[in-house]
Amino acid sequence: MKRRVLNIACIGAGYVGGPTMAVIADRCPDISVTVVDLNEARIAAWNSDALPIYEPGLAEIVKRTRGRNLRFITQAEGAAAIAQADAVFISVNTPTKTQGEGAGKASDLSYVESCARYIADHATGHTLVIEKSTMPVRAADTIKRILANGKGGATFHVLSNPEFLAEGTAIRDLEKPDRVLIGGEDPDSIEALAEVYRHWVPEKAILRTGLWSAELSKLAANAFLAQRVSSINAISALCEATEADVDEVASVLGSDSRIGPKFLKSSVGFGGSCFKKDLLSLIYLCEFYQLAGPAAYWQGVLDINEWQKHRIAELAAAHARRNGGIVAILGLAFKKDTNDFRESPAIDVCNQLLAAGLQLRLHDERVEAQAFSACLTRGTKSVRFCGSIDEAVEGADAILVLTEWDRYAKLDWSALFAIAAHGASVFDGRAVIDRVAARAAGFKVYSVGKG
Ligand code: UDX
Ligand code: UDX
Repeated sequence: MKRRVLNIACIGAGYVGGPTMAVIADRCPDISVTVVDLNEARIAAWNSDALPIYEPGLAEIVKRTRGRNLRFITQAEGAAAIAQADAVFISVNTPTKTQGEGAGKASDLSYVESCARYIADHATGHTLVIEKSTMPVRAADTIKRILANGKGGATFHVLSNPEFLAEGTAIRDLEKPDRVLIGGEDPDSIEALAEVYRHWVPEKAILRTGLWSAELSKLAANAFLAQRVSSINAISALCEATEADVDEVASVLGSDSRIGPKFLKSSVGFGGSCFKKDLLSLIYLCEFYQLAGPAAYWQGVLDINEWQKHRIAELAAAHARRNGGIVAILGLAFKKDTNDFRESPAIDVCNQLLAAGLQLRLHDERVEAQAFSACLTRGTKSVRFCGSIDEAVEGADAILVLTEWDRYAKLDWSALFAIAAHGASVFDGRAVIDRVAARAAGFKVYSVGKG
């Protein structure tokens, strides 16, 4: 039976659910979209002028769609929206399990399971239930089992429609996706969801697969992307030892059409809510299916990332320890153009510097100081959050760049040299600063992957 999706509900108003639903509402004026979240403060923020997440272009879209065909409500008010929905997206977080079987590796599906129960209790008629969050392979089995035991008389089809947006470019990625992936078992349900995306995505970019391939493709895509960063970071250390330049090497690699130029920027390490969690989930799946070789292979990608963060932190720590012990950290977000610092390399680097007894002065363009301080394991006595770059750098013995914010690429190094401590060095963990200007100003400069 052919069906049309006219009412959408989405559970989870986070970095994925919020922007994705805003773009669907923007591009599909004939569809009514309701975003539901347990967190009342987050919903209040979505309904205010100070949105809970920073993403270029997002505020403008929310402004023109909110109150038209997009609304944000709390889960307590959400039952009617689920009852009305033809399609419910599950966009809640799937963190790494901290206890029970698979602790430390497997994804925790308890939020997904509670969403499935909530949908089972409130849905009416025939409802598509769509996995938007990244899930382990065969998570749809769990959702189907819960839906089948629901009290209401609704019927369901489960689809996997993983989101490939990257933070910082979420709106661009959603508006012009490389591809939209829909995995499922029922062709009519797949087409009903494809019809939503056809409002703005070309048909050839809408890929259809089986459920399990869709679930696994998302995990594998993140693992491949993380693997590229670890590969170039492994080369960065060799560049430093051999006086090669990692950006030159990357540009040669990237000009081979089989390799391609993207995702070859050497860094202090990858962060973000997905790569580590999804690699751990993949490793757990490999182990579960007794595939020790593949598990060790993907573990290697994570190990290089830890090693890279550690070695760059140690370079800055060693210099600061020999001098006055003050380190300015420029950048806390896991990448530029987001206020997100989940799994940011800055967390591990800061904790390592604090463990070495150093004093930290932290600056970021968007990350809230209060929220970040909760990630620091040694309390905040040795830490000062600074409202300006000058305040962070004043008196610092080492300046450590951890996020590639555009502003850090354009710093006035002469002015900073005048206020930094005597003999201060710069450690650029993103290879973004103007090294020539920093050296000309008088700084000693280390830059990742630059021999
Ligand atoms: C991220 C990843 O991007 C995604 O692919 C992964 O699978 C999960 O984590 P994200 O949108 O960034 O998703 O997560 P987050 O910003 O934490 O948002 C999740 C939202 O779901 C939160 O606002 C939380 O309050 C809400 N939630 C969680 C519910 O509404 N109900 C629940 O039962 C659990
Ligand atoms: C990633 C995937 O790109 C996206 O498709 C998926 O939906 C969610 O996970 P995200 O984590 O938001 O997106 O950002 P991404 O741009 O992938 O960057 C991840 C991390 O890798 C960042 O810390 C970034 O700085 C780092 N990175 C990325 C590098 O160090 N070098 C690169 O060349 C690219």
